[in-house]
Amino acid sequence: MSTVDSGDRPLDRGVSSLNAAGGRTLLITGGTVVGVTGAVEADVLVDGETIAEIVQPGRIPVADRVLDATGKYVIPGGIDVHTHMQLPFGGTFASDTFSTGTRAAAFGGTTTIIDFAVQRTGEVVQDGLAAWHAKAAGECFVDYGFHMILGGVDEDALKAMDQLVADEGVTSFKLFMAYPGVFYSDDGQILRAMQRARDNGAVIMMHAENGIAIDVLVQQALARGETDPVYHGITRPPELEAEATHRAIVLAGVARDCPLYFVHLSASGALEQVAAARDAGRNVFAETCPQYLYLTLEDQLGAPGFEGAKWVASPPLRSGHESHRADLWKGLRSNDLAVVSTDHCPFCMKEQKELGLGDFSKIPNGIGTVEHRVDLVYQGVVDGKLSVQRWVETIATTPARMFGLYPRKGVIAPGSDADIVLYDPNGRTTIGVASHHMNLDHSAWEGYEIAGRVDTVVSRGEVIVDGTGLHATKGRGRYLRRGLSSYLL
Ligand code: URP
Ligand code: ZN
Ligand code: ZN
Ligand code: ZN
Repeated sequence: MSTVDSGDRPLDRGVSSLNAAGGRTLLITGGTVVGVTGAVEADVLVDGETIAEIVQPGRIPVADRVLDATGKYVIPGGIDVHTHMQLPFGGTFASDTFSTGTRAAAFGGTTTIIDFAVQRTGEVVQDGLAAWHAKAAGECFVDYGFHMILGGVDEDALKAMDQLVADEGVTSFKLFMAYPGVFYSDDGQILRAMQRARDNGAVIMMHAENGIAIDVLVQQALARGETDPVYHGITRPPELEAEATHRAIVLAGVARDCPLYFVHLSASGALEQVAAARDAGRNVFAETCPQYLYLTLEDQLGAPGFEGAKWVASPPLRSGHESHRADLWKGLRSNDLAVVSTDHCPFCMKEQKELGLGDFSKIPNGIGTVEHRVDLVYQGVVDGKLSVQRWVETIATTPARMFGLYPRKGVIAPGSDADIVLYDPNGRTTIGVASHHMNLDHSAWEGYEIAGRVDTVVSRGEVIVDGTGLHATKGRGRYLRRGLSSYLL
């Protein structure tokens, strides 16, 4: 973040000239402004959609509107770089639309999402992107961008990568080593996409699980009559995430150190592979998600009866009897894990998760968390695992840098979009289906108590959420054409 203005300008500068320029001014006073380099007492002056100045408290006496942030953290709006609104999966669609999902995001202090457009085998990449634009246009409450899932890497798809990077503001591509027959790419396809990304400047995002081996374990489990949700986890052991992570790192190395970002990293062994690559100076990065930081295979996925279906996601929740969660928190501290995203992919129990009654392999994969990420990672601050600046870095600043949105997003600095959250460290948040805004008939986080609360959410200068509720209109969210990553080595 930029530091507090050292103060040789006249007191009343800014406001009148800003008004003369036609801007609406908003002054956020009395708070603690947090950025990656620290936290300072400062006021933030917003002019229209962008941040105009960060000044010493009290230096600007008037503005069109004042928000009192006394006792609160003033942080950049959250950026969730991994969501799946309306994703078609397992014969159904993720239950949040771009409208309900971005509304829930806003309530949770997230002012930008990057969702995944999908190309399947045989489909034209640009058609997939157009389909996602059609779903999102006019629906979003916060700003949004797209990554592209490549489910069929062929010559046309490789050419399309160049066009998306050059013309469409889509500068990251997700490949799957899991889900054979659905999104799966083999090693040759992966290598070719990596070589292309190395040439056009894009980032390859990898779902690293050995899907071929997993499918063998799944068939064997079902043949033994092991059909409950917990077998989803047991048939996707962490070794098969570590193996795929290693293989992807090798392939990216062969592709002349193509930038490689692991999505939803869940396990200690995979993290060790990422850490070793980073120690070797490689352009290798990873995110994790709140579910892997807090929840376990035994306590949630292994819940009695069909209850565990709520937590069926891939990779699966890991055993609480191993060191995964503690290692992931350490990874967040050491930056081997650079980002926390949600992998928001909600499916209701009724009629959706229920598709897998009697066969865990038919349970649609995904957990809904887009509303709770800012709070859940803040819990790491409360527990002494992360500093406030590291909290902000992992939920906003690095996501923006990694995916070509910085410094427009992810920082409170003059010229940046005025996406700002007032966060009350003395507030409390109780998570549950009765109070959440996601279109989901249960909560993976039911009863979770957070020491901290999203107080006010500002998106491009507009107060979209405050104590009285939502003040945004559907469709105000804009499509973000992203640039190349500014996080690479
Ligand atoms: O279970 C998950 N993660 N569902 C969403 C699709 C994906 O692999 O990210
Ligand atoms: Zn994935
Ligand atoms: Zn246990
Ligand atoms: Zn995902």
